[in-house]
Amino acid sequence: MLFERPEIGDRAIILQIELKRGVNPEQAEFAELAKSAGIDVVAAVVAPRDAPHPHTFIGKGKVIEVKLLLKQNEADLLLVNHELNAGQQRNLEQALECRVITRTELILTIFADRARSHEGQLQVELAQLKHAQTRLVRGWTHLDRQKGGIGLRGAGEKQIEMDQRMLSERVKAMEKKLLDVEKRRAQNRRGRYRRGVPTVTLVGYTNAGKSTLFNRLTSADVYAEDQLFATLDPTTRKILIPGLTDVVLADTVGFVSLLPHALIEAFKATLEEVAQADLLLHVVDASDPLMNERVGQVRQVLRDIGAGSVPEIIALNKTDLVEQRPHLEPCTSGRKIDAVPVSALTGAGLDRLVTTIGDSLGVASPHEVVLDSADGKTRAWLYRSGAVLDEALLEDGSLQLTLQADNQLIDQLENSPQVLLRTRTPLPRISN
Ligand code: GTP
Repeated sequence: MLFERPEIGDRAIILQIELKRGVNPEQAEFAELAKSAGIDVVAAVVAPRDAPHPHTFIGKGKVIEVKLLLKQNEADLLLVNHELNAGQQRNLEQALECRVITRTELILTIFADRARSHEGQLQVELAQLKHAQTRLVRGWTHLDRQKGGIGLRGAGEKQIEMDQRMLSERVKAMEKKLLDVEKRRAQNRRGRYRRGVPTVTLVGYTNAGKSTLFNRLTSADVYAEDQLFATLDPTTRKILIPGLTDVVLADTVGFVSLLPHALIEAFKATLEEVAQADLLLHVVDASDPLMNERVGQVRQVLRDIGAGSVPEIIALNKTDLVEQRPHLEPCTSGRKIDAVPVSALTGAGLDRLVTTIGDSLGVASPHEVVLDSADGKTRAWLYRSGAVLDEALLEDGSLQLTLQADNQLIDQLENSPQVLLRTRTPLPRISN
């Protein structure tokens, strides 16, 4: 055991910190997260602050209030909806005599519970180890109580050094293992790309119904349950879109607002895949009263991970639960985004969804053009438009360019007599 800390309980009080400046995570969402981790939230307390108190984040008065509240409610766990530094967390635990869990720790615990694939488990474990490294501070290890007085570097200090070395060795080993897994996945992705198989990636706020829709569209048997983060690992299956070559559908992590930095780091490879998708299928829970906020939060995460400009369509899911189609606010960037009402549970609307995916991919699927090598003007124009993915010199001296272009550009090329245009020929099916 690395830390001598109060036992962890399951009757919790939520401490919502409201800092005057900066972004404060939402309290209702945090309570949902706690619930999905199997924790019983018995009370909540808000701590408004101009700035964090250096020792306890919340200050002496609030510590007394929280301690009383814990006692009154017979609670044995404090969930803090914020990040605390190691010292603040330790001081709070000592003052309150109960385990204190931060927002990142709660989310890491949930992710650890839900990780199913080897890669997902490695990613979460690495994030947990790295977090543990930041918490390995003086006054918090099990031998620390034996530490001597002034001038004595006690056994506790040595223990910290040993623990730190052990942790960093494990971190290194884990990073190496992960790198191997990621390399393999990147190879698969490149293979799909070379074969011209587009990838549609499901994204969405946690519990929106991604796994259920994934199963419906692929007939795959992927675990889905009414809990946050039922899906953790990127799972890929093929789907058939009429008129197109095979398309790969990838299921991803459920998003929460303000995804902790530790997790963005740990899931970098997974999230990078999102940024490289040809199309994002954004699943939205139409029965959620906070639907528009959730959509905004997912888009913020997408921007954070560099996927802000990947084409997107919305599957307005769970319409079986609503009488009227709810109003979806337009995208703040001004982009027009198609929204198709569906029910992943009953199957309603899925035909239209598949057609819409097909239409969007038609735009995004690669085309090849063959140019006379003397036609530098067209070549320069295509490069300027940002559509060129690849260029090859053919045996007869002409140039073949692979393009990812929109309809308008393809129309223009079709009307250029000097350019030979062809779409990628259908390729043999792949299966996963
Ligand atoms: P995370 O992996 O946590 O991000 O969840 P998810 O988005 O993959 O959600 P999941 O598919 O696990 O569905 C969450 C819950 O919503 C499950 O209980 C589903 O049965 C339910 N659900 C999904 N789609 C529908 C739908 O169209 N209608 C109704 N009524 N329930 C649905």
